[in-house]
Amino acid sequence: MSQAVVTLRAEGAIGILTINNPPVNALSPAAVQGLIEGLAVFEANPALKALVVHCEGRSFVAGGDIASFEDPAFSATPYNQFLGRLEASARPVVAALHGTALGGGLELAMACHWRVAAPGTRVGLPEVKLGLIPGSLGTQRLPRLVGAERALDLMLSGRMVDAKQAQALGVVDEISEQPPLQAALARAQALLKQDWAPRRTSELTAAPASLPAGLLDQALAQARAKPRYPAHEAIVECVRAASTLPFAQGEAVEARWFARVLSSDTSKAMRHLFFAERAAEKIPGLPRDLALRPIRKVGVLGAGTMGGGIAMSFINAGFETVLVEASADALERGLSTVRRNYDASVSKGKLSAEERDRRLARLTPSLEDTDLGDCDIVIEAAFENLALKQQIAQRLGQICKPGAIIATNTSTLDVNAIADASGRPANVLGMHFFSPANVMRLLEVVRGAKTDPGVLATVMKLARSIAKVAVVSGVCYGFIGNRMAEVYMREAEFLMLEGATPGQIDKAIESVGLAMGPCRMLDMAGIDVGAKTIIEREKAGGLPTDPTYRVMVRKLFELGQLGQKTGAGYYRYEGRTPAPNPDTQAICEALAKQYGIARRSDITDTEIIERLLYSMVNEGARILEEGIAYRGSDIDVVWTAGYGFPDHQGGPMFMADERGLKHVVERLDHYAATRGNRFGYWTVSPLLRRLASEGLRLSQYAG
Ligand code: COA
Repeated sequence: MSQAVVTLRAEGAIGILTINNPPVNALSPAAVQGLIEGLAVFEANPALKALVVHCEGRSFVAGGDIASFEDPAFSATPYNQFLGRLEASARPVVAALHGTALGGGLELAMACHWRVAAPGTRVGLPEVKLGLIPGSLGTQRLPRLVGAERALDLMLSGRMVDAKQAQALGVVDEISEQPPLQAALARAQALLKQDWAPRRTSELTAAPASLPAGLLDQALAQARAKPRYPAHEAIVECVRAASTLPFAQGEAVEARWFARVLSSDTSKAMRHLFFAERAAEKIPGLPRDLALRPIRKVGVLGAGTMGGGIAMSFINAGFETVLVEASADALERGLSTVRRNYDASVSKGKLSAEERDRRLARLTPSLEDTDLGDCDIVIEAAFENLALKQQIAQRLGQICKPGAIIATNTSTLDVNAIADASGRPANVLGMHFFSPANVMRLLEVVRGAKTDPGVLATVMKLARSIAKVAVVSGVCYGFIGNRMAEVYMREAEFLMLEGATPGQIDKAIESVGLAMGPCRMLDMAGIDVGAKTIIEREKAGGLPTDPTYRVMVRKLFELGQLGQKTGAGYYRYEGRTPAPNPDTQAICEALAKQYGIARRSDITDTEIIERLLYSMVNEGARILEEGIAYRGSDIDVVWTAGYGFPDHQGGPMFMADERGLKHVVERLDHYAATRGNRFGYWTVSPLLRRLASEGLRLSQYAG
């Protein structure tokens, strides 16, 4: 038996099967083998009258070992057979839950005869978030325990429920304040004393009342509307099987669907992102035990949309936060937006009024920047202007307490220049939040040339505590995300000048799964925002000498067509609904004529996708080459968590790998040959060319 991972010992007449597989007791092949062997020993020992299954460490089993799914020889069968044997035991089997019991962990618990949980336990079947379905009879046992409708909800959302909710649902039998193992032992003793008959979940039937007429058909129609996420359809079909078929037949249905979703491109991509997000938190070269600075009090300077959203992120997570604005009007405007946001959550039932009040009580508004003096970190969220941000940094350098971290929320500016202005650059870095900052998961953490490693590590940990996915970027124009977005927008505009319509471009890009094509996106964000960035960059000498560069957005800005807010941009708007804008067509024709660009009628969706996305991939490779991002997978996290890139594609780097880097390079070379390469737009990054020729993957690249 694999002693290190699973052990069986006896305490009196009770066997204790213990899993010890840090950090979260995931079911590695060794753990499964250990469980099988441990159960065999229990079965062979009649002196043991009951069995308790429990886990060491911070959690019960948090699921199948996701890494082991990459092994082509992976099979759920041995574990499923183990669960069948465990449940079939004629002696009571009690699960002792604590931490999280997720996926294969909850499936283990459901195969036990009794489930006792520590108060803070959370349970769930989150496989859908990895593009999978529970593959160890979770789709068959959960509906039998909680009814089809609730099982569908839990599996389609993948959400966790706490111990109390789990008990109300019937997933957990008992909540105990005792240590989980002691509670389970006590329960096993109690069961032995009473006239006990095994309660086997597989022998229950999903109550017909739990299946309102038409529920499954409706769920199926909704699932099929998301063909990129085949796990949704699979879950519905498995729940149908659980509700209508004997257990053994349902098991076969689940096995078929599981094999299908496990081999799907979607799940492969989503599993990549699971590990990518966790890898992004790790900073190469930094000791894991580096001393972190304590953060108790947070300051936010600037109460605009961004500042207000940032402040909300912190007060939501329990931080005392000071929000400073220069004028009383602006402060009041900012505060009323924050209050309105919370009130909306309360009226939608997402937040209790008490919790809203608790959060608001953590926010201290102020008109005096000296109130930031005792904050452990101050984030400035002023207007995007270098001189202004430098001036603020200088002031913060004077008023912040020694050792305080000073963060600048900029999306494009030179963090080093801002850091130097503070007079204490080691304490400065960039925190690029995305709007709305209280909602968007991504945070780009910009490491300045002089940023102290402890400051960087502190902010990465802080990001996690406010539920952000943080990715480190070096200093360059636009950091990782906006720098890549720039080449994407560049190609979108060139294609418009050459004859593609905004509608055609957006449709092509949305067919890949991006939430919104570039034209709709810029119309929403504001043409003025896009144009001003270009104009500023030009002033700083950062643009190519190409006279046709982003002329379209500048023209629209000049004409006051600022997008949704003025009713016209690339599109014309009735409310928020876009319709073709004849002016755009006329402007494109005029600009093409002015710059001698030939209009074409043969632009295909493939060309649009390749020119926008492959040039972005190429820029991503440059970002890696320059050491701006540590890993290819970090870039995937930036794009999926912050820019609406579809998780089923795994991010731009992963998508390029899947399409084949050789193919990507060939197409870039093709466009260099056909479109010309005067400004280096199609020059293939040497890193990309090398990885392609060596058969390596961009999404696995770590510099
Ligand atoms: N398989 C393999 N590794 C896993 C894992 C799993 N099911 N669940 C977590 N891990 C690893 C993480 O990769 C991370 O490893 P690292 O420290 O080397 O980066 C470590 O466990 C801790 O996970 P993390 O997510 O950073 O910790 P957390 O405390 O924030 O969250 C969980 C813990 C269990 C809630 C979270 O990890 C999770 O949701 N896991 C996936 C659960 C799941 O989907 N189960 C079904 C699988 S089919």
